Amino acid sequence: MKYSGRTFVVSGGASGLGRACVRDICADGGNAVILDMNEGLGNDLVKELGASAKFFVCDVANTDSIAAVVQSTVEWVQQTGKPLGGIIPAAGVGRPGLILDKNLRPTPISAIDLVLSINLRGTLDLIRQLLPALAAAPPSGPDNERGVIIMVASSAAFEGQMGQVAYAASKGAVAAMTLPLARDLSRFGIRVVTIAPSMFDSAMTAGLSDKVRKGLEKAMEFPVRAGRPEEFAALVRQAVENGMLNGVVIRLDGATRMPSKL
Ligand SMILES: NC(=O)c1ccc[n+]([C@@H]2O[C@H](COP(=O)([O-])OP(=O)(O)OC[C@H]3O[C@@H](n4cnc5c(N)ncnc54)[C@H](O)[C@@H]3O)[C@@H](O)[C@H]2O)c1
Repeated sequence: MKYSGRTFVVSGGASGLGRACVRDICADGGNAVILDMNEGLGNDLVKELGASAKFFVCDVANTDSIAAVVQSTVEWVQQTGKPLGGIIPAAGVGRPGLILDKNLRPTPISAIDLVLSINLRGTLDLIRQLLPALAAAPPSGPDNERGVIIMVASSAAFEGQMGQVAYAASKGAVAAMTLPLARDLSRFGIRVVTIAPSMFDSAMTAGLSDKVRKGLEKAMEFPVRAGRPEEFAALVRQAVENGMLNGVVIRLDGATRMPSKL
């Protein structure tokens, strides 16, 4: 699969890791559909990229909101003549919180629901609703490939830290979905790859305190720095282009293993 001549749908595409993918797709002759709640950033990105990008406001936690943008995406694909080639569900939130606080109060279920409904349910629902269009795309190349899905897990899928119970649950589930999704979709010529990044520079990590950042740096092997969104986008591109990558979770972390305490 190549970006060129195809349309890729990127949720959370207005910022951070998703935005780096959108830029890479458009720079390589593909079209990108940006789905995000952040209208300001979404519109800015379309201004920057021109006709190869389209922004639709979408809340991936809301199944009707997804249904509406899937319809708009299918119509845009018909207008441009660039068939769907893949889905990158990168919308996500961190929202750390201890499962039990010092006063023996458990975290509200609404806080857990929020993280699960965006990171897990939102990922699965977006894929689910786009799949009929992706599976109907014309096959390409010698393998008759129709598309690639690249999901975003996290180091927290393997080494969740304090306060990350809900986040780790959401990302561990995304990692666990990878193989059964690949198995379900192989008959349609659709591959599934998940990337599990460690700390990357983005709006999500911009608010980390110096203490937390320094603590995380201590756990890093090499290089001792946060990843760059372009490095994430480079692996996404490889996952799109390399037909043998399927049903796998790839850590992108410079050998970092998240410690118990910072
Ligand atoms: N930055 C990191 O260190 C890091 C590490 C591991 C995994 N991740 C994952 O990477 C993904 C991208 O995160 P990022 O670092 O680029 O953060 P980011 O905050 O820069 O981007 C996330 C985007 O998702 C959007 N979003 C949030 N809720 C949404 C919703 N309900 N519907 C639609 N869009 C929504 C936000 O508006 C934002 O534009 C997330 O899934 C995150 O969990 C990030």
